[in-house]
Amino acid sequence: MRSPARSIVLVGLMGAGKTSLGKRLSKIFNLPFFDSDAEIEKAAGCSVAEIFARFGEAYFRDGERRVIERILAGAPCVMATGGGSFMDDRIREVVKDRALSIWLRADLDTLVKRTTKRRDDRPLLKDGDPRDILRKLIEQRYPVYGEADIVIDVGDEPPEKTSERVHKIIVSHINADAEPTN
Ligand code: S3P
Repeated sequence: MRSPARSIVLVGLMGAGKTSLGKRLSKIFNLPFFDSDAEIEKAAGCSVAEIFARFGEAYFRDGERRVIERILAGAPCVMATGGGSFMDDRIREVVKDRALSIWLRADLDTLVKRTTKRRDDRPLLKDGDPRDILRKLIEQRYPVYGEADIVIDVGDEPPEKTSERVHKIIVSHINADAEPTN
């Protein structure tokens, strides 16, 4: 499978399926996979929830920016990003510059359903009703996520179907990029 010359960055809210799709795409394209949350946890030696609790969100965001910049400075890869990262101007800039960004757009019901299992790992969903919180995040973030290169609607289909769809769209982008312009 021909690999993209640029990294593939997955953007979207918690529960959109960035990590599971990212792992599948990394296999399909034979590229390394990174999860920005997991990289921050590795660097900090504790979980995202602990970083929020002990040092606060601003500290987490700073680490998130550094991790994403470092990963995108390297060889092409597939990266699943934390849901808040694309809201940061500098991160958006580096993603636009170095990667093909894909927003996994999910509706509220899908997100609520998919985040119920791992609420403890997600500090933003702990204080309040997750549905209300996710609804507000959709309002705030979806207009900005819309700056991604590609938008994919995700719902209740099996993950292999989603990865098949996304794979085809990425390949058509790679081919379009490779076409001579004159
Ligand atoms: C966050 C999403 C989380 C994690 C942190 C904050 C957010 O990542 O980075 O809890 O602001 O939406 P996932 O989107 O991978 O759950």
